[in-house]
Amino acid sequence: METITSPTRPIPVHPGLPLVGNSFEYLRDPLAFLRRLQQQYGHQRMVRISVGGRTTTLMLKPEEAKHVIQENNRNYGRGKSFAILREFLGNGLLTSEGDFWRRQRRLAQPAFHRQKLVVLAETMIDEAVAWVDRLEKSLTDKPVNISAATIDVTLRIVTRTLFGSSLGDQVDGLSSALSNLNHVANNAVINPIRFPRWVPTPDNRAFVDATNRVNNLIFGIINTRRQTSESRDDLLDMLLRATDEETGEGMSDAQLRDEMVTLFTAGHETTATSMAWTLYLLAQHPDVVKRAKTEINATLGQRDRPSTDDLRAMPYLSQIINESMRLYPPAWVMSRLSLGPDRFGDYALEANQGVLISPYVLHHDPASWPDPERFDPDRFAPESGSDRHPYAFLPFGGGPRLCIGNQFALLEMQALLSVLLHRFELRPVLGQKITTQPLITLRPKQAVAIYLA
Ligand code: HEM
Repeated sequence: METITSPTRPIPVHPGLPLVGNSFEYLRDPLAFLRRLQQQYGHQRMVRISVGGRTTTLMLKPEEAKHVIQENNRNYGRGKSFAILREFLGNGLLTSEGDFWRRQRRLAQPAFHRQKLVVLAETMIDEAVAWVDRLEKSLTDKPVNISAATIDVTLRIVTRTLFGSSLGDQVDGLSSALSNLNHVANNAVINPIRFPRWVPTPDNRAFVDATNRVNNLIFGIINTRRQTSESRDDLLDMLLRATDEETGEGMSDAQLRDEMVTLFTAGHETTATSMAWTLYLLAQHPDVVKRAKTEINATLGQRDRPSTDDLRAMPYLSQIINESMRLYPPAWVMSRLSLGPDRFGDYALEANQGVLISPYVLHHDPASWPDPERFDPDRFAPESGSDRHPYAFLPFGGGPRLCIGNQFALLEMQALLSVLLHRFELRPVLGQKITTQPLITLRPKQAVAIYLA
């Protein structure tokens, strides 16, 4: 976008109350508030709101989103809302910035290369098959709690792909310590009243406990690994061996800890949530399930266990996953802070301003997605949507900070869905109404329940 010094006009401001601004409107129902803003200000492309004493500019169109996260990404840092995550995740890929982030990303990127993922995909497929076996054994005439079932399997997958099967009986301990940490982090996000860490509130004590347990376990594992030259097929091994091309240096133990906790946190709730939404939608759309089953049967035939190539050869399944992430993007909002001034056409944005990009808002914009509430995987059919802006759909973000685990997540969801749909028929629980709960991820507020047979 232009950098010339042509005249500017002010960014529209959404009126609010004295002192609190738009905080109440936002807190009452953030998604509904963002949608209203889109309807009201969409034609003006952006709007300023004030939440929690901070002003932030919400970008309402794909072009501006692309400008912030891709074209002029160097002008945007992580912003204040990442401070809370930084307490939990340390200085890992999600929370770090600048040259430090660039170096870490360079070190970690090869571990997510297509060829490396083939090895991790085997673990995903094993776990997917074991998962449907467990579900089958425990079937009753009652509906299955899909929210719990998807958390269970994604936790197993992330723990095994990160730390390998060498953990033995530490698996459960580590998994539960890490999910406690995740739970405390989610609580911290919704709790408006926060005391400094040294005040022994229940939340603070839970944070210290969970952090100590996680650190003891992870540092123990790193220590053991450093003493052996044996190689393993997991992400920890790949990160332990990664060295910087320029300096020849690897990661310190503390850095490895931060990256492992980051990958664990970023990598399981997002996928579990997305799977729960996908199955919720599928249970209500038997016609879509039928087409998916035809594709799965044609690919797998009598086999129970797909190969990685099979997973990549089921385009309709990918369309379903995309359409589910369009309606319910797990990462529903991304925040940034402008480091210097910027120009968006004739709007001028000053330095040190909060910026919000909401995949949820962009994914429900009728200008890009006619009849946006309708679940229709054919929106992602190869022949459709060629005139759509690429940033109208950004479940994994974009630009250099694109989700490093996007291919990992897609493979995992393909594995879980194909194995589950191959084995079971789905039936909805009639009258079940699921609403959204936007925490760190966009969760279903009620547990999703589905009949499997
Ligand atoms: C459906 C599943 C997932 C979704 C929707 C998702 C979404 C996202 C989004 C939107 C971002 C960009 C955030 C921003 O720019 O502010 C991101 C970053 C990230 N994601 Fe994911 N993610 C998913 C799965 C995973 C998995 C499986 C992993 C790891 C195994 C992972 C690891 C990360 C990391 C490390 C980052 C930070 C990357 C960086 O800044 O360099 N994610 N994710």
